[in-house]
Amino acid sequence: MKHLLSLCIITLLFTAPTQAAPADTNQLRDQGMAVIQQFFTALKGELRTGLKSGGPPQAIQVCRVEAPAIAQRVGEQSGWQVGRTSERLRNPSNAPDAWEAKVLADFAAQAKAGAKPGKLVYSEVVTTAQGQRVFRLMKGIPMGGMCMACHGPSPSRAVREQLQRLYPQDQATGYRSGRLRGAFTLQKVLD
Ligand code: HEC
Repeated sequence: MKHLLSLCIITLLFTAPTQAAPADTNQLRDQGMAVIQQFFTALKGELRTGLKSGGPPQAIQVCRVEAPAIAQRVGEQSGWQVGRTSERLRNPSNAPDAWEAKVLADFAAQAKAGAKPGKLVYSEVVTTAQGQRVFRLMKGIPMGGMCMACHGPSPSRAVREQLQRLYPQDQATGYRSGRLRGAFTLQKVLD
C-alpha cells in the first residue's frame, strides 16, 4: 500500500511538468487563435480581390501562391508555424501528419454528430522524438459562400480545367456550404 502511494506520488511528480501551467496553455491557445484570425482575414482579402479582378480560374493562382506566402509571413512575425490541412486534399504538400490526421478524424466525427465546423478546436503539448516540447493547435475550417467556386459541388468548366492542370490528384471539390473543409494547423516550439 505504502509502495503504491509513493508510486502515485512519483507518477504525479513526473507527469506534472508536461501538464504544467494551464494558464500558459490557455495563453498559447489564445495567441494561436489570433494568428489564425490574422491568416484567414488576409487570405480571404486576397481571394476576394482575386475573384473580383480575374474570376475563379485566376484566383486559383492567388490561393496557390498567396496562401503559403501569407501563412509563412504571419507565422514568422509571431513565431508560429502556420498551415492548412484536410482529409480531402487539393495540394498533396498540405497532407496531415499522424497527429493531424487523428485530430481531423475527430473533427469529422464531431461535425457529423452536429458540431459547428468553425467551432472545432483542439490543442495539446506534444513531445517530439527529439525531446522537444511543441504546442500544437488545430481549428476547423467551414465551407463559406466564397469557397464554393473552387471547392463546391459544381465548379465551372474553366475552374475544373485549371484545377485538373495544377492539381491532377485534387480531392477538394464537392463540399456543401457549412461543411467541414479542413483545418488550420499551428505549431510553436516551447523549449
Ligand atoms: C479561387 C479558388 C479558390 C477559392 C475561392 C478557395 N480556395 Fe481553397 N484552395 C484553392 C487552391 C488552389 C488550393 C491549393 C493551395 C496550395 O497549393 O497550397 C486550396 C487549398 C485549400 C485548403 C488546404 C488543403 C488542401 O486541400 O490543399 C483549404 C483548407 C482550403 N483551400 C479551404 C478554402 C476555404 C475555406 C475557402 C473559402 C473561404 C477556399 N478554400 C476558397 C482554391 C480556392
